[in-house]
Amino acid sequence: MDITFDQVSYVYQPGSPFEHRALQDISFSIQSGSFVAIIGHTGSGKSTLLQHLNGLVQPTEGRVNIGPYALVSGEKNKHLRELREKVGVVFQYPEHQLFEETVAKDIAFGPENFGVEQKEIEDRIQQAAKATKLSEDLLERSPFDLSGGQMRRVAISGVLAMNPEVLVLDEPTAGLDPSGQREIMDMFHELHKSKELTTILVTHSMEDALKYADHIVILNHGEVYREGTPLEIFKQREALENVQLDVPEVIDFLAKVEEKMNIRLPYEGQSIAELAKELARMVRGGRDHE
Ligand SMILES: Nc1ncnc2c1ncn2[C@@H]1O[C@H](COP(=O)(O)OP(=O)(O)OP(=O)(O)O)[C@@H](O)[C@H]1O
Ligand SMILES: [Mg+2]
Repeated sequence: MDITFDQVSYVYQPGSPFEHRALQDISFSIQSGSFVAIIGHTGSGKSTLLQHLNGLVQPTEGRVNIGPYALVSGEKNKHLRELREKVGVVFQYPEHQLFEETVAKDIAFGPENFGVEQKEIEDRIQQAAKATKLSEDLLERSPFDLSGGQMRRVAISGVLAMNPEVLVLDEPTAGLDPSGQREIMDMFHELHKSKELTTILVTHSMEDALKYADHIVILNHGEVYREGTPLEIFKQREALENVQLDVPEVIDFLAKVEEKMNIRLPYEGQSIAELAKELARMVRGGRDHE
């Protein structure tokens, strides 16, 4: 589903002493099927923006279009239920919302609520558990007996079991160890491709934004500060430093190779080690031709 933000502003607790303008005149588009990363320092409005995508909050000003659904300031949306069936949101620390007696029941909670048939629910539990690599013998256990990483997978399975078209991820790997982070991100990337999802990821990892996204939006103090492809964005070192964002190491490596050796390596998500191997091969190959 194509998504557009059209001059969206959002104000928390308007008229109270806690009034806070979290989003200011946000306009940008997300193409159906793309993988978009939203980055920006703490408090820049990333989570607030995501909450518009399934109608948890409504724009104070402006409008958001999500496929055929519209969230318009001051208008009640009559199709929130449908929208929430299509847009799956993995919130920060989603395992905090687990509550059922068994893993299987927790995964089934969403589809049951939306009236999916029992047989179909059984299939979806199996598929979701498979996608998140939860072994079958865990399904009848209490989610509270599992490790933190496993609980995260149960919570994610519950979102996947809704078969969403749009997947919204708010720092889905926060608090996991590096190998757990990588596994979860690779899983989302795999699902993104195989199910042709539209994926929107909020992350503090510039490496992940570079590796997985095909478009990046930077928020700063509730405004869109920059947007573009990862390579366009990470070329702008100074602009990034101005909003306390780092340049991924891979980009530094590519820049150094270009500067020192005058070789422009094509970047397609490789690690530094992989790029170094390619470079060695190129240099060796070049010599063989001499
Ligand atoms: N319920 C609320 N009432 C008032 N202000 C709020 C509320 N929730 C968030 N804010 C403020 O709105 C701004 C944007 O918050 P938001 O959570 O969207 O930022 P974020 O970019 O997701 O930050 P982080 O990277 O820390 O998750 C912050 O200044 C925050 O303090
Ligand atoms: Mg946040």
